[in-house]
Amino acid sequence: MEKIRGDRVKEYMLRTKNVERKFEMPDGDVFYALKNININIPKGKLTILRGKSGSGKTTLMNLLGALDTPSDGEIYFSDSELTKLSEEEIVALRREKIGFVFQSVALIPIMSAYENVEYALRLAGINEKRDERVKECLKMVGLLGRMNHMPQEMSGGEQQRVAIARAIAHKPDLIFADEPTAELDSNTGLQVVKIFKELVEKEGVTIVMTTHDVGLMSVGDVVYELEDGEIISEK
Ligand SMILES: Nc1ncnc2c1ncn2[C@@H]1O[C@H](COP(=O)(O)OP(=O)(O)OP(=O)(O)O)[C@@H](O)[C@H]1O
Ligand SMILES: [Mg+2]
Repeated sequence: MEKIRGDRVKEYMLRTKNVERKFEMPDGDVFYALKNININIPKGKLTILRGKSGSGKTTLMNLLGALDTPSDGEIYFSDSELTKLSEEEIVALRREKIGFVFQSVALIPIMSAYENVEYALRLAGINEKRDERVKECLKMVGLLGRMNHMPQEMSGGEQQRVAIARAIAHKPDLIFADEPTAELDSNTGLQVVKIFKELVEKEGVTIVMTTHDVGLMSVGDVVYELEDGEIISEK
């Protein structure tokens, strides 16, 4: 019995136990942005966190990505409890194991697509076969032919794809994407999500993505729905 449970746990990249995030307001009121969150993020799958604006998606993602700390409860990254890790361990975890993609693409405007991706590898301290990896990542997002373009010479969807190439370059186990399609039209948004799907299937990456676009739900292997800071459904 114990063994079965242990094996199951190994299938999850992240697990939360009764996670809570409250904010104390200047007037003394306490606001619960997240309550009683118990979720399991499976390895090698695409998990979607959906919910209306203000439901708590970004707050939850920031906790899962160790950018913020829960007010109560526990978050396990594989076998490590995040709050028990030192600041150095957290920094290393984020640098080596995690990639982030944000809603507004934050490419460096004075660098080409190629240089943006290469810079991420430099920051991660990866020097070996850098050129090869940059090209491989740009190819995965279908932009090898645009590698010398500057951000302002690319469409929004192309820029977001460069941001994805940049996030995956150092081969993270886990990618967080907070509303990566919010600023794209629905067709381009779907393309971006298809790239995520491919990364999951071909590279075995684990992806957690937030969205309020109902049209994208079907691509998620797991979909958690948030409302007023609570999980109201799991599919
Ligand atoms: N630092 C903070 N202090 C106080 N309240 C906060 C803070 N950060 C978030 N909140 C509140 O927590 C709730 C959840 O916010 P969150 O950003 O997680 O929502 P969201 O689901 O990501 O929304 P959106 O779809 O608009 O991005 C909101 O009501 C927000 O106002
Ligand atoms: Mg948000």
